[in-house]
Parts: sequence; structure tokens; C-alpha cells
Amino acid sequence: MKFKESGQLPVAVRFLLCMLLLQPYHLFAQGKKIALNRNSIGAGIPERTQTKGISANSTTRERILINEGWKFYKYSSLAEADTLIYDLRPEVREDRDGRPADERPTEAAEIAAKRAVLKPWILPTGNAFIKDPARWHTRPAGNPGGNFSFVQRNFNDDAWESVNLPHDWAIKGPFYKGWNTEIGGGMGRLPIQGVAWYRRKLDIPASDAGKSVFLEVDGAMSYAMVWLNGNLVGGWPNGYSSWRVDLTPYLVPGGENQLAIRLDNPPSSSRWYPGAGIYRNVWLTKTSPVHVGQWGTSVTTGNVSKAIATIDLKVTVDNKSTVNEKYEIATEIYALDGKGKKMGKPVARIAPVTLAIKAESSETVSGSVSISNPKLWGPLPNQKPNRYVAVTTVSAQGKNLDAYETPFGIRSLRFDANEGIFVNEERIYIKGVNQHHDLGALGAAFNVRAAERQLEILREMGCNAIRMAHNPPAPELLELTDRMGFLVVNEIFDAWELKKPPLDFHLIFPDWHEQDLRTLIRRDRNNPSVIMWSFGNEVGEQYTGEEGAQVAKRLNAIVKEEDATRPTTVSINYAKPHMPLPAVVDIISLNYQGEGIRDAPAYAGLQGIRTSPLYPAFHEKFPDKVILSSENAAAVSSRGAYLFPVTDGISAPVKDGLGGDPKSLQVSAYELYSVDFGSSADKVFASLARHPYVAGGFVWSGWDYLGEPTPYYLARSSYFGIIDLAGFKKDRFYLYQSQWRPGLPMAHILPHWNWSDRAGEVTPVHVFTSGDEAELFLNGQSLGRKKLGQHEYRLRWDDVKYTPGELKVVAYKNGRKWAENTVKTTGEAHKLQLAADRAAFQADGQDLSFVTVRVTDKKGLMVPNANNTLRFFVEGPGEIVATDNGDPTNLVPFPSHERDAFHGLCLVIVRAKPGQKGTIKLKAESDELEAATITLKTINGK
Ligand code: GAL
Repeated sequence: MKFKESGQLPVAVRFLLCMLLLQPYHLFAQGKKIALNRNSIGAGIPERTQTKGISANSTTRERILINEGWKFYKYSSLAEADTLIYDLRPEVREDRDGRPADERPTEAAEIAAKRAVLKPWILPTGNAFIKDPARWHTRPAGNPGGNFSFVQRNFNDDAWESVNLPHDWAIKGPFYKGWNTEIGGGMGRLPIQGVAWYRRKLDIPASDAGKSVFLEVDGAMSYAMVWLNGNLVGGWPNGYSSWRVDLTPYLVPGGENQLAIRLDNPPSSSRWYPGAGIYRNVWLTKTSPVHVGQWGTSVTTGNVSKAIATIDLKVTVDNKSTVNEKYEIATEIYALDGKGKKMGKPVARIAPVTLAIKAESSETVSGSVSISNPKLWGPLPNQKPNRYVAVTTVSAQGKNLDAYETPFGIRSLRFDANEGIFVNEERIYIKGVNQHHDLGALGAAFNVRAAERQLEILREMGCNAIRMAHNPPAPELLELTDRMGFLVVNEIFDAWELKKPPLDFHLIFPDWHEQDLRTLIRRDRNNPSVIMWSFGNEVGEQYTGEEGAQVAKRLNAIVKEEDATRPTTVSINYAKPHMPLPAVVDIISLNYQGEGIRDAPAYAGLQGIRTSPLYPAFHEKFPDKVILSSENAAAVSSRGAYLFPVTDGISAPVKDGLGGDPKSLQVSAYELYSVDFGSSADKVFASLARHPYVAGGFVWSGWDYLGEPTPYYLARSSYFGIIDLAGFKKDRFYLYQSQWRPGLPMAHILPHWNWSDRAGEVTPVHVFTSGDEAELFLNGQSLGRKKLGQHEYRLRWDDVKYTPGELKVVAYKNGRKWAENTVKTTGEAHKLQLAADRAAFQADGQDLSFVTVRVTDKKGLMVPNANNTLRFFVEGPGEIVATDNGDPTNLVPFPSHERDAFHGLCLVIVRAKPGQKGTIKLKAESDELEAATITLKTINGK
């Protein structure tokens, strides 16, 4: 198929505009000699600013967070945008938004139109991550965009919006409503699309002359291109990757330097909400010209036991100076405390090594040391996530040139095809969830506390592992999983060469897969929580036999070159045991295939992939490979929305009238329904129990996320989460807790018991418990004692006739009383109650307080069907960042201070003004209810 370029201006006009922008630099470039240096990171750096020898600079590294003080401008439409494009895109003829997730990916489209693009200037940024020097990209002459006003130092950006990073330009909305919108339900109905610029001044003191200065971006969505003082420096298209550009050649020390970053985020580019903007941290790193390379250390641990462990360290040092010199590389190892701070004296030293490094080149040195009685890193609850840090110094002639810290953990991993995964020889059954990168009402803009809260709530459920679906996470998220002792499947690529949405990353895959993959592994290889690398999710290459397997082999080889210590995997929902793709990877990761797809009776007659349970066939074909259920369930529900009738099976596909309500667009919270290719949690538990060699699995999904609102496209966010978008627990939370924390005495009843319109009607009551038996009482009368059968995970009283009052369950374990739970019919909604997640929080401009608002009756019982409109006010040094209620259909913009409760609950996210220590008062009001106020304490303000 041939596609023409998209865009509203005629092609000829846009081409002319583009040439006008490029032209002045051609003239400028002709007057200067640009010498290319193929050996250094970022080939194409002009020679003129390379520093001489070590004497020019002997300082150690500074890493400065430059999140504050940015200016932001977004064009109101693509037609209005400048033409400094990275590359041409195919025209979007057919939008896959909202199509079933397991639909077969298709061929990439060809692009017919020709136009000047900046890609040749951007590609060299990735050279350090291309193994074969013959394939390195040479920067062409010229400086595209150099004459464009936005990149100039003297451009007046006063009228631009002032923003701090991490910044997601789309999250404030408004939401697109209805069918056929620019951004539909699949991508979260938020205005992620378009071209935008970020500008920031960099104050570079004269004393920085001679240093190497890098701009490090942890994630910018997407197609980032960077100019400094009017010079195009480089960029990186993949919005999930972390990358850096070398600013040194273009820097003017002793004054103000002007940074300008252009992003271009395409519509129809994702199957979920991707976010938009510079949504992760940005750093300015200053080093001596001789320094530890980018992510230049690798720590591996061997012979791990309680008595001893060997630490092997590799360090790559870059010599960006113009002298050949000998350098001393030394490393000390310290234990870290729970907060990541160095404790006491070094516990070990790696003997210093002297290394000769020629000018303009890099060398790698290795060293090892043994540690006695190491404090091992391991997952909770039986182990502790202890960590160490290796502090590596580079010096010459007694001068310290660099100091580089590598946090790591000491742990052993073992993978056994019959018994699963072992960490430090303890078998760890994977009780995992899939997590997308957005943080609900905060969007993609990364926030440590919001991510920590996600993990805390998952931990309370008994979850011990996270699959990063389907893209590299923020580095700070891995710092959290390290610190909190979760296991991680670190993943990249939802598409390779074949496409899912028409403008997804398949467009850049041919040029960038190697660089994206190597950056991920080099960045994250020292994080002990990462236990395997997944380099694909349900890719189209599953369908193309040997051809697809060849792509997998190339990617697998890259991973192995970067890290031979961890296994590789790719998640498959279509490939079968006899097909070539599964044979390529170390671990078989099955999405839905293990328990069978569209396989149970309730799923008969549905269109799409259909398989019987495939664990046995894969186990037989690959008797030496671990099998993991990388995605299971894809069960759906809306918190607190119980719909009737209730299926009498254990798993059913959601349909209008059976599990789904096409009017309210809500899905039943009886937790028995799934999408067409999924299964209820009950069915998945049974299937995993029947196949004990499976290493465990990852539920789709832990939390709800923005976009992919199957089955109701008009909604904004998913129904898949065990926890809703606001962080409130759905009933499913307790089902997982009952199985994942068997030692915790608990019982949970559903539904609520406020059914004034169902008097006398059959209203099934289900109970989740970590016990094995339970008796249910309605208004003191026993409705019978029931025992869980083999492979049963809920107790059901399906013929209870509703009468108001009290439901009480008494659960037993091994015949002894174990836990109780009651649900009462409440009175009318009467007042509001506020509760914060923590009593005090930091006034650092980042930390957040998550305040739960409950609508209660006079006695303080939460009214489960209350949906009153609430308004919020703040007094004191704080602000409301966002509100939410977990309702997937709610299209009120997240920053709104007014929101309806959803089934009795609402969430307010408060941030303290930076540096302002004190007390914040948050007040919640409603026309019909008694108001409530909570006082939040802020601490340690700067
Ligand atoms: C899977 C896919 C996930 C998600 C899930 C639920 O097929 O891998 O990314 O889309 O379905 O729809």
C-alpha cells in the first residue's frame, strides 16, 4: 500500500516552508569546519570545544535536576506547527483505536511523499548503543532549525506557559467526548497529540569551561529533538526511553545558554494513554572530560550464600580529552540503609587498577571482591531488600576526576522448569500484576509518592511482582521496587516491525530497536528487582513463522550481549509450542493461553483467537524452560457497581445485560466477568493450581489505567484494574488477598446491602476468605455454612432474597474461627469524612497527600450508592493537584475541584507549596451533606 503524507497545508507549501527554515544554516555551516569524531559517544561533535588534558579540569561529577523553570508552548493544531519534523508519517486511513487488544497486527504502510526531515541529524545520538561501528550514523552538515525563532537565545518566551517537570501536557484535558474523536477511548480521550516546545535557560558558570556537560532525559513523549543556543544537538524518538545528548560542543560557559526541545506526539500511536510532554526527570550532568561512561558500570554477584558473595564490577571510562593518559580506577562498596543512604565505612574495596585510555576513546576495566556475611537482597515477606552501593572513582596524578555511584543488591536467581523461580534459593511464586506507566489523575508525569502508593496498595494485597507493561519504566520506579522488594519483569516493545495502531513505534523500530534495547538494559541492569528482560508483547511477528523468529533472534542476541545473567522472554498470545518464536527465548511467557482463550462454555461462539489451555503443551515441548503467565484474567469491573442477573458460572465474557450496563457504561463488580479473550480471577486461580510447574503469573491489571476502556469505548479509563484509577479497592482486591496472603485472617462480603428497590428479590451474596469455610447470616439468621471445594475461590449464596439489615460472615480455617466481616444497610447520605494516606508529608513540591473522601450516613457508615456532587477548598500552603473518583466514565477534567462521589468515594490529591512548612486545611462540601475538614501537616520544607 502507498500512503501519502498527512497534514493540512499542501505538500508544496510545507516543503517550501521547511526549506526556508533549513536554508540559513546551510550558509552558516559552509563557513565552519565540522570535524566528525566517530569514536566518541554522539559522533558528529565539532572538534573546536574538545578540552585538552586533565589539567583543564579535575572536578568530580555534578548531577543537577533541572525540572524547574521551563517555558512551554503547544501549537493549537498540526497545520499551524513548524515543519521541523523528525520523519514523515503514513497517513492514518484506518484507526485501530478501541479494537480488541488481541487483534492481529498488520504490515507497516509505505510512505510515498518526500520532504526534508531531521532524522539524519537525530540518528547519531544513538551511536553509542549501536554495536557495529560500520552502522554508526554520520551527522550530515548543516544545522536544521538553527534559524527558527524558538531555538534562539533572544526569542521572547514570556508569553509561554511556565511549567515544572515532570510535565504531562494532556492530563488536564478536557476529555474528548463521543465517537470518532481526535483521540478516542483507546488512548484515554485526552489531548496528547500535537507539536510542542519546551525552553529553559541554563546558567553555566565560567568555571564549567573544559567540563563535559550532558543533558539527560529520563523520558519525553515523543520524538524529542534538542537545540542548544540555536544548534541542533540531537534527540530520541521513543518516548519511553531514557537518553542523553552531549551539550559540550555547543555550550557557552560564563553565561546564559538557551535550551529548546521540540516534541511531536502523534495521534493513533498507542493502545493506551501514552501521556505527552517531558513527563520524567531531566538532569544536567557535568563531569571532567574523563569520566565513567553513560550507565558505564555493571555489577553482577556470584557464588551467593549467607556466608559469602562475589561482586564483579565492570567500569567503562570515557576519555573525551585530547591526551592519552593513565587513570586509576578504584571502587569502594558501602551498605545502604532502607532509604538508600550510605551507612558507615566501606564494607569492601576493589583493588585499584591503572588503565591507559587514549584520547577520544573508551576503555572498560573489570574487578572483583568478596564480601563475607553479605546482607542479601530478596523479596518480602520472608527476605529483606538489602542494598549496597559501589562508589567508583577515576583519578589521575592524584587528582580525582570522577566519582560514580552504582546502587545494587546481592542476590542469586535460579529458574527451574518444574519448580519456578528461586531468589537466594527460596522459591518465590510470582503473585504479580501488570502495570501501565500512568498514575491516574496525575497522568504520565512521574511522581515518586504516587508510584510508591500504587506499590503499597499492591503489597497490602500480597502482590510480589510487577510486569512493566509494555515499556521501560521511570528509573525511580525501579528504585522503589528495589527498595520495597518487588520482583520486576522489565519490558520494552509492544510492536516490532508489524504495526498495531498505525503510528505506533513500529515506525521507528527499524532504526532504533538496538539503541532502545541497549539503553534499557544498560540503565537497569544493576537494579536487583529486575529478574528478566522481556523484549516484546503480543507482537505481530508471532504470526509470521521463521521470519518473525529471525527478528526475535536479533533482539535476543542484543539482550544477551548486554546482560548474560538474566533470562529473556517475549509474551505470546498466539504463538503455539511448535512455532519458531517461543523457541528463541529463555522463558515462555503466556498471555491468556495458559488457561485457554475463548475456551470455557460461556465463551463459545465468540470471534477471535481460540485455544484450549496450553500450559501442558508448552511444558511438554520445552521441558527445560520456565513457564510464566505473563498476562492473565483481563477481568473487568467498576468498583461498587453490582449488576443483575449474576452469571452462575465462574467466568463469563462481559456483555450488555450480562455483566455490563450499556446505559451507565459500568461493569458488574461481582468479579466474574472478563473481556472475550480473558477469564475471571477464579478461573485463572484454578488453572494455575492445576499446573503447579507454572512459576506464577501477572494479572491484567493491578491498577486501572487511562485508555483501553474495554468494553465501553466511550469511557476514559480501563475496567481491568483490581484497584480503580483513584486507588480504591474493588472487591477483586480481597479475592487476590485471600489467595496471596493465606496467613492473614480475612473475609470479605459482596455486594453492599443497600437495595431498597430489590426487596424480596434474589441478590446473590459472595464471600472471599483466606479461611476454608464460612457461615453467612442475614439479620442473625444463618443462611448456611459452606466449604470451599477444590479449585474454588469464593463461597456463594446465590439465592439470598434481599431484606435490609445486616449481613455477617464468620469464616473458619481448619474448623476454627478465623475471620469475620459485616455489611449493613446504611441510612441516607448525611455527612462527609476525610482521611489522608499519611499524617504528614514533605513540602518539597513533589510529595503528595492522597485524601479519601467518604460519604457516610449519620452513624459514619459509607453509603455505597452515594454520588453527591462534592466541592473542595484548600487553605494554607497547599494546592489541589487533581481529583478523581475511580469512575471510568467520568469525563470531568482531573484538575477540577468539584466532582461527584462514585459509590460513596472520592479522592483529592494535595501538594504542599515548596518550602512552605505548616498546616494545610482541606475542606469538602456538598449541598446536601455536612461538610468536613482535614488538617494536613507539611514537614521539612526547604
Ligand atoms: C492484552 C495486551 C495488553 C492489554 C490486555 C487487555 O492482549 O497485551 O496490553 O491490551 O490485552 O486488553
